[in-house]
Amino acid sequence: MTYKTLVQRARSARTHSHSPYSHFRVGAAIQTASGKVFTGCNIENSSYGLTICAERTAIFKAISEGHRKFKAIAIATDDRGFTSPCGACRQVIMDLAGNIDFVMSNKNGDIRVFKMSELFPFPFDDASLRKKKPNT
Ligand code: THU
Repeated sequence: MTYKTLVQRARSARTHSHSPYSHFRVGAAIQTASGKVFTGCNIENSSYGLTICAERTAIFKAISEGHRKFKAIAIATDDRGFTSPCGACRQVIMDLAGNIDFVMSNKNGDIRVFKMSELFPFPFDDASLRKKKPNT
């Protein structure tokens, strides 16, 4: 599957966005190493902090269905520019998917591809937890 196609999947997932507060519709599509695609959208809540972004919806759906290896994740919004992922999603994607490609797109369908390590250098990860000394 080309990244254009992955972006199209994100673009159509965007139509399911539940965003009555921000009116900012986001769709995401994550491709597994085996070529399967899981989509997600942002889902807002009247208790604003409980909102989940499209990227995390997509990756949690994939993981909850047994997928652990990923190739790329794409997002699509109604913005004219390229939408960049929030910090929480960068942490979650890097932690659960590693240094995969992050595909940004704009309203015209233009694409920019980044490595997660470019977007999120020097991450907190499980290596830090393994080094932790037991509590005394
Ligand atoms: N949002 C996403 O879903 N993904 C992003 O990468 C940026 C932000 C959502 C969260 C919220 O519903 C809305 O966009 C405005 O912040």
